[in-house]
Amino acid sequence: MRVFGLDTNPSVVERLSKGESHIDDIDSDQLSSMINAGFSPTVEPDCISDSEVVLICVPTPLDDDGTPDIGYIEAAAKVISQHLQPGSLVVLESTTYPGTTQDIVRPILETGSGLTAGTDFCLSYSPERIDPGNAEWGLRNTPKVVGGLTPACTERAVRFYTQIVDTVVPTVGLREAEFAKLLENTYRHVNIALMNEMAVFCHELGIDLWDAIEAAKSKPFGFEAFYPGPGVGGHCIPIDPNYLSWLVRSVGYRFRFVELAEEISDRMPAYVAKRAQDALNFARKSVNGSVILLLGVTYKANVSDQRETPARPLAALLRKLGAEVRFFDPFVDVFIVNGEELTGEPNLGEAVAAADLVVLLQAHDEILESEILGTAEHVLDTRGVLTGGNVERL
Ligand SMILES: NC(=O)c1ccc[n+]([C@@H]2O[C@H](COP(=O)([O-])OP(=O)(O)OC[C@H]3O[C@@H](n4cnc5c(N)ncnc54)[C@H](O)[C@@H]3O)[C@@H](O)[C@H]2O)c1
Repeated sequence: MRVFGLDTNPSVVERLSKGESHIDDIDSDQLSSMINAGFSPTVEPDCISDSEVVLICVPTPLDDDGTPDIGYIEAAAKVISQHLQPGSLVVLESTTYPGTTQDIVRPILETGSGLTAGTDFCLSYSPERIDPGNAEWGLRNTPKVVGGLTPACTERAVRFYTQIVDTVVPTVGLREAEFAKLLENTYRHVNIALMNEMAVFCHELGIDLWDAIEAAKSKPFGFEAFYPGPGVGGHCIPIDPNYLSWLVRSVGYRFRFVELAEEISDRMPAYVAKRAQDALNFARKSVNGSVILLLGVTYKANVSDQRETPARPLAALLRKLGAEVRFFDPFVDVFIVNGEELTGEPNLGEAVAAADLVVLLQAHDEILESEILGTAEHVLDTRGVLTGGNVERL
């Protein structure tokens, strides 16, 4: 296929054109072979007129007041409408609330193009399901959910995606495909929060929750393992379920599971700070003046993404208590806390030796593969992956 990558950010396009990837999962060699095979990054929307299929994958953040910001989708739809050709297929892939494709994208496309969706062009929704850093499940082998405005639109999108993914899962309509994505994210959000709440009382009860999860996992049916941690980050868990709770409020309900999950997981950085304080106290030290080393400050393992990372509120809390917070992260050079730039420790061994307390926040392979943590004075492991006499699990 001939593929254009249209982006409004000229520096993204410039770097892509030079073969420099800004995406963790796509290395520059892969990008170069894509460019050699005809991939064209561009800022020129004219390319839409030359395209039979147009995929929209723009950001869907929240406003300052926590409501969905679909301004990027609206802007993209407007530009597409000015270049849309009869017979083409438009697919929205951005995560959003059910109703967006039909009620927001469709009228913008129709007004700008003078064409009718479902008759003159096909309109579908297919959620983006990429899991950054996941070596096992990528674009090709992760089933792709697809829903269309009409059965013919669904069929057209299924035919398109079947060329690039192994399994395509059609839904009965647009809203079901939109809802499926939010269902997946909300399910994770609620179950991670359940584990976070359990971690707090399991500690008091002297129960190793990770060991109990391993035991529960041996049941071959009716249980799926989720794990506690220092809080949730990224986009899918802290942001996306708000799209659903916003929609649910519009029909007069509160989505209490989401609100509760948010409240519990948002408290985890403060809980980790309290556990750090307790660990230092046990060693007859105060947080004030102690050197606390945070290992891994990204929101998930083996990626460089810092969006909504719980390491940031944790670092802010520990600094407020007077700790000297340092960090080591093979993916991050500079970590900004309360507007101040912290520079990463260059040497894990030296950083561990200088720390009164080490807090493992992210299970990056490079950190776990190092033997050096065995020499640390004390390690608070928020991921339940370390063992040893100096290790305490969350
Ligand atoms: N990144 C993921 O792993 C992931 C996973 C699942 C779902 N999603 C969803 O995919 C969507 C995109 O996320 P992302 O992480 O790729 O965002 P991103 O911010 O990394 O990239 C979006 C790109 O869109 C560009 N853009 C903004 N407005 C534009 C416009 N009108 N026309 C052309 N380009 C425009 C931006 O410049 C940016 O380069 C979101 O809805 C997100 O929730 C992302």
